[in-house]
Amino acid sequence: KLRIVSGVQPTGYLHIGNYLGALHQWVLHQEQYENLFFVVDLHAITVPQDPKGLADATLSAAALFLACGIDPSKSTIFIQSHVKAHVELCWLLNCVTPVNWLEKMIQFKEKARKQGENVSVGLFDYPVLMASDVLLYQADLVPVGEDQQQHLELVRSISKRFNSLYGKKKKVLKEPKPLIQGNTSRIMALDDGTCKMSKSSSNDMSRINLLDPPHVIKRKIQRCKTDSFMGIVSDPVGRPECTNLLNIYAAFTNQSLTKVEAECREMSWGQFKGVLTDAVTTFLDPIQKKYYQLREDEDFLKQVLKNGSEYASSIAQVTMQQVKDCMGFIRTM
Ligand code: TYM
Repeated sequence: KLRIVSGVQPTGYLHIGNYLGALHQWVLHQEQYENLFFVVDLHAITVPQDPKGLADATLSAAALFLACGIDPSKSTIFIQSHVKAHVELCWLLNCVTPVNWLEKMIQFKEKARKQGENVSVGLFDYPVLMASDVLLYQADLVPVGEDQQQHLELVRSISKRFNSLYGKKKKVLKEPKPLIQGNTSRIMALDDGTCKMSKSSSNDMSRINLLDPPHVIKRKIQRCKTDSFMGIVSDPVGRPECTNLLNIYAAFTNQSLTKVEAECREMSWGQFKGVLTDAVTTFLDPIQKKYYQLREDEDFLKQVLKNGSEYASSIAQVTMQQVKDCMGFIRTM
């Protein structure tokens, strides 16, 4: 079986963009592949985090993996910092990654601009830690949203470079491919159809969180940005907000864009917002119920995470040994 690896940052609570761009793909392919999914808490601290908030967001993300349908008997679920090899491999890869590759990263440039003088070395190094996450497990495929495409190209470049330096006889690290799915790979913000929906936006009205109660979802959809054209029709350039909402509607009702366009073409904005609200709340209801069950008694969740990190560590150790051997590190006596 091919191996799938992917992660989510606990920098806030997960939203429908994370679900449609990533988690939904994870669940769909669960049977077909061998899967490792993790909450990347070490990535989260590349920007300031409140410790209590980080702890809760980490467990919340892990519980949402399960609530969204990741089955621990088919997939390995764990917390990144519980497998120490992520950090160890990151250091080794730091030493083969040119600084100018990292300087080109769009997400770094954007986040650095917002942070002003307080940009940490960790924020700059973020993509190398991400490369470690993936290469440590010799992943074949990495299902992510479109915003991670550049990071994954870098992961491939780092892998190639490592192999060309140290793997002349036999490739040491795999070169994983991104798995990015069509219409839902970039869900846009509710307040601006040209910006990505994001956990870090200061405006909570810009996103629908997976844990928002129905009345909040209703209010967010009622107040979201619309346009003054007639009919509900997709037009990515001229009507980005309308296109985005149609995509969300199609995804949550499990229909094609053409089908929902035929259904909604004649609707007013008011009518469309009504059916969209129903579709989203109906879809999220069982996920939220499962989530609160898991958080009420966390023993099960913690056991899943413990098993997950033990299994992941056992795979990681094999890669670490190969990497260290070929670089010339002496084994422990
Ligand atoms: P993060 O936490 O920002 O997002 C988690 C996943 O959700 C996707 N995503 C979106 N998809 C569609 N529309 C959106 N508006 C949207 N916003 C986010 C992301 O593409 C991602 O797949 N660097 C990663 C986390 C990471 C990782 C990894 C991923 C760390 N190590 C190794 C894969 C493999 C990130 O910040 O994702």
